[in-house]
Amino acid sequence: MGERLVIRGGRSLRGRLEASGSKNAALYTLAAALLTPEPVILHNVPQIADIGDMVAVLRALGVRAEIDGTDVTLHAETITETFAPDDLVAAIRASFLVMGPLLARCGEAGCPSPGGDVIGARPVDVHLAGFRALGATTTHEGQSHVARASQLTGARIFLDYPSVLGTVNVLFAATLARGTTVIVNAAAEPEVAMLAELLIAMGARIAGHGTAVLTIDGVERLHGAEFSVIPDRIEAGTYLLAGVATGGDVEIAGAVPHHMDSLIAKLREAGADVTVSASGVRAAAPRPLAAVQLQAVPYPGFATDLHAPMAAALTQARGVSIIHERVFDNRLLYVGELRKLGARITTGGNVVLIEGPSPLTGGSVRALDVRAGAAVVLAALAADGETIVHELQHLDRGYPLLDARLCALGGDVTRS
Ligand code: EPU
Repeated sequence: MGERLVIRGGRSLRGRLEASGSKNAALYTLAAALLTPEPVILHNVPQIADIGDMVAVLRALGVRAEIDGTDVTLHAETITETFAPDDLVAAIRASFLVMGPLLARCGEAGCPSPGGDVIGARPVDVHLAGFRALGATTTHEGQSHVARASQLTGARIFLDYPSVLGTVNVLFAATLARGTTVIVNAAAEPEVAMLAELLIAMGARIAGHGTAVLTIDGVERLHGAEFSVIPDRIEAGTYLLAGVATGGDVEIAGAVPHHMDSLIAKLREAGADVTVSASGVRAAAPRPLAAVQLQAVPYPGFATDLHAPMAAALTQARGVSIIHERVFDNRLLYVGELRKLGARITTGGNVVLIEGPSPLTGGSVRALDVRAGAAVVLAALAADGETIVHELQHLDRGYPLLDARLCALGGDVTRS
C-alpha cells in the first residue's frame, strides 16, 4: 500500500512559499539535452518523482545524468539506443518527447505509445503528423511508434490541435531540420516558450515562441547550455487556491504573474483579494467567495491543470459555479472524491456544477491523478475533521515536499 496523507482541516492557510521549478517545463528541458553531444546544465528542477522517471528514460538511451538537489547535468555525448524502453516509458507520458530529438539527431526514433491515461485518451497523432511533414516516415513496430528520416526538411505545418507535447516534439525536430519550419496553431504555454529560450541558448534559431506561430530556421548542430527552469504556475496556483479555499492568505514568491492571468482574473471575479508584485502573487479570501463560471482551455485561457483545484475552492463559494473542461475528456474523476467529503457537485458531459458553500467533513479519499489529488487535498484542508488521502504517489509526481509546504502555511498535515 502506498503512502497516505492525514489532513486535519478547518485551519486557514497563511504565509509565504517560494515557487518550485515547473514540473512540465523541466521535463521538456531534460529531453532537449538529447539534441546535443555537449553537456546541458539545468537549475531549479523540481525534486519530484516525474523527474527521476524521465532521467531513467534518458539514461537508457545512453545519456549521462547527475542529479544534485535541484541541479541536473545531462550529457548526451553518445546516444547508444534510439528506442525508448517500454517499462520506463509506461511510468511517464512525457517520455514520448525523446522522439523529436532522437529523430533529428540520429535519424531514427522509437517509443511505445503512451496510451490512454486516467485523464482521458492521449493520442500522439499531432506529433507524428508533424514528423511526417518534416519528411519522416512513421510506422508502428510492435508496441512502438517509429519515425525515420535520413534528413529532415523544414516545412509549414498546421497542428490539428495546439497540443503542448506535440508542439514541443515538432519544435525539437525542426531545430536540426534543413531550412525553415513554421508551426501554425502551436501551443503558446509559458513552458513551451521557455523551452524555446533554452533551445536558443543551445544555438537554435527560433522566433514567435509564446505565440501560436513558431518559426524555426534549422541549424546543423546545437551546443551545450546552462539554464534555469521557470517557476511552476500550476503549483503556485494550487497553493493560492488552498489559501482562498480555507479563507486564508497565501503568497507565492517568484510566481510569474503574467503566466497566471486567467487564474488571477477568476479569483478576483470570485471576490478574492489578489495582489501582484515584482516578488510574486498573493491571494486572500477575507470574505466568502462568490460562484464563477469558467472553461478550461489552452493557454492563455484557464489551465486544465488548475480545473480540479479550482473546483475544490469553489465548493466554498456562494451560488452555483460552472466549469467546462475542454482540453481532456476525463478530467472529472475528482468529482466523486469531493462528494465523499460532502461537496455538492454534479456533472453532465464535461461540465461540472458546484453548489456552494458546502460544509465539508473529513473522510477517506483517493488522489486519482496529480491534479485530482490536489483537489482532494484542498477540500480536506477546508473540511472539518480528519481526512485520509490515499495514493499519495500521484501527488508526489507534481508537488515537491507537499506535506512540509502545507505545514509551513499552517496546515495540519502528516504523511504516513
Ligand atoms: N491531443 C490530440 N492529439 C495529439 C496530442 C493531443 O488529439 O497528438 C489532444 C489530447 O487528447 C487532449 C488535448 O489534445 O484532449 C490536449 O493534450 P496536449 O497534448 O496539449 O497535452 P499534453 O501535451 O499531453 C501537457 C501537460 C499536461 C497538461 C496539458 C495541457 C506535460 C508532461 N503534460 O500534456 O500536464 O494538462 O499539456 O496543458 O507537459 C499535469 O501536469 O498534470 C498534466 C497532465
